Amino acid sequence: MKNKHLVSITDFTKEEYLRILELAEGFEKQPRQEILNGFVISTLFFEPSTRTRLSFETAINGLGGRVIGFSDSGATSASKGETLHDTIKMVSNYADLIVMRHPLEGSARLASEVSSVPIVNAGDGANQHPTQTLLDMYSILKTQGTLENLKIFMVGDLKYGRTVHSLLQAMSKFNTTFYFISPEELKMPDTYKIQLDKIGLDYHEGNDLTKFLAEADIIYMTRVQQERFTDPIEYERVKNAYILRRSMLEGTKETMKVLHPLPRVNEIHTDVDDSPHAYYFDQARNGVFVRMAILSSILGVK
Ligand code: CP
Repeated sequence: MKNKHLVSITDFTKEEYLRILELAEGFEKQPRQEILNGFVISTLFFEPSTRTRLSFETAINGLGGRVIGFSDSGATSASKGETLHDTIKMVSNYADLIVMRHPLEGSARLASEVSSVPIVNAGDGANQHPTQTLLDMYSILKTQGTLENLKIFMVGDLKYGRTVHSLLQAMSKFNTTFYFISPEELKMPDTYKIQLDKIGLDYHEGNDLTKFLAEADIIYMTRVQQERFTDPIEYERVKNAYILRRSMLEGTKETMKVLHPLPRVNEIHTDVDDSPHAYYFDQARNGVFVRMAILSSILGVK
């Protein structure tokens, strides 16, 4: 993985996913290691973030590296009209690796084509969020003991949700059965379903959250993302489509976990938070160890 870009989850092989998860387990046991001493990592966030940026920066600090970057592109020369091409050209003079979030699909791929250092995509519009996927996989492995042959329910905004797009592509290598639960307007795009058809994987699609829930190993909730809608009326129509409540989890498997990339708005009621099925805050914590694994692999120190 040394010097590889991580733009799409498909840039890594199944063996590479497993290697990252194995390394993450080691970092969880021993999170303070000075292995990034002397490395400078840039975090460029052109779109808001809490978890992704702070967990990357926690990971870098924990491993002894230095961080440069911004969380508000309005305070950079992008606001004077500097292109992404030129920004990346410049920052790759200063840093050994660039972590970037941007609202436009394809922006991370563009950055990887002009950068002289590895690019790690921290989310590009509705397209991909590969580091989130790796931490989701780590959370699934920790809670289920395996990644193979699981039933994963994806609920909410499956059209614009970059986390579900990346997770589908990665978990399709582990014989997953997918259940796509969404309003009609936010269905999983055909392009992803065609990928599943091609490899002969089973999936179910519907809009009733409670049906079949007893079969779930993982319920992966997502937020309906106001910022991706061009039509505010369409957002109003679908924003409260699904609200998971504790009473709905009765009769589900004891080992079933509810995941969510966060932030949530109202799609998981707070009465779920102290249920043994709730795992979303632990999931976010896992992000630090997984991002330690990603950075150290790409920088060639592990
Ligand atoms: N999961 C996630 O990407 O969260 P942030 O938007 O807070 O980084």
